[in-house]
Amino acid sequence: MKLLKFDTIDSTNTFGKMHFSELEDKTAICADEQTCGRGRFERVWVSKKCENIYLSIILKPQNTLHIANFTQYLCVVAAKELETYKVTPQIKWPNDVLVNNKKICGILCESVLKNNKIQGVVLGIGINLNTDYETIKNIDRPATSLNFEIGAAVNKNEFLNNLLEKFFEGYDEFVEKGFPCIKKDYLKYENFLEKQIFICQKDGDEKIPYFSKYIDDKGNLVVSDNNNEEKIIYSGDLIL
Ligand code: BTN
Repeated sequence: MKLLKFDTIDSTNTFGKMHFSELEDKTAICADEQTCGRGRFERVWVSKKCENIYLSIILKPQNTLHIANFTQYLCVVAAKELETYKVTPQIKWPNDVLVNNKKICGILCESVLKNNKIQGVVLGIGINLNTDYETIKNIDRPATSLNFEIGAAVNKNEFLNNLLEKFFEGYDEFVEKGFPCIKKDYLKYENFLEKQIFICQKDGDEKIPYFSKYIDDKGNLVVSDNNNEEKIIYSGDLIL
């Protein structure tokens, strides 16, 4: 594993995508701040210079069968690392990590294609470790930062090194076996099953009500609709 460090960058994911072909498999790119941090659904990811984690990992696995689940793998790794700080992380499908019902960590996975063939992914993660109160308060949805949850500053390098170590410890097995490897852990942290929920495909879209039933072996969400018909949700945003 190689680690590239930047002071300031537009977005570690954008950099990863732009330089994908020159970057080696398993290269990690991290920055102290991002001027154009991006989230899912074209949201902005607030990325101030405050000892938070802004990280992207270049992944070029031979076996691309389980690429769609890499975000779920990473969110379990992040939840496990957060747990070592004596907080109680929760996972909101598919891959948000929350603490005390507020988002602390978000994941953005972008595929890179060449001639319609998948070359790999840029797997990006932002974790609020040391955000100031003013910034957290101004985020347009409930958010938190680890320093508030534990009442102390967090050592970013220590967190980052442990996160990367945990990630690569189980990565090769995950590439081969996929979601079943992490299903038990994923379910240990889930906070969205057996509940009335809403799903929307992107911001501003209709929020469709469902009852969330279970997660299948591919990491998809199985729900029932108002007519009690089962439906598999492959992607989208879950609203509790
Ligand atoms: C989300 O929850 O919407 C995903 C947020 C992902 C943010 C990270 S920070 C590092 C990487 N670079 C980006 O521009 N985005 C991801």
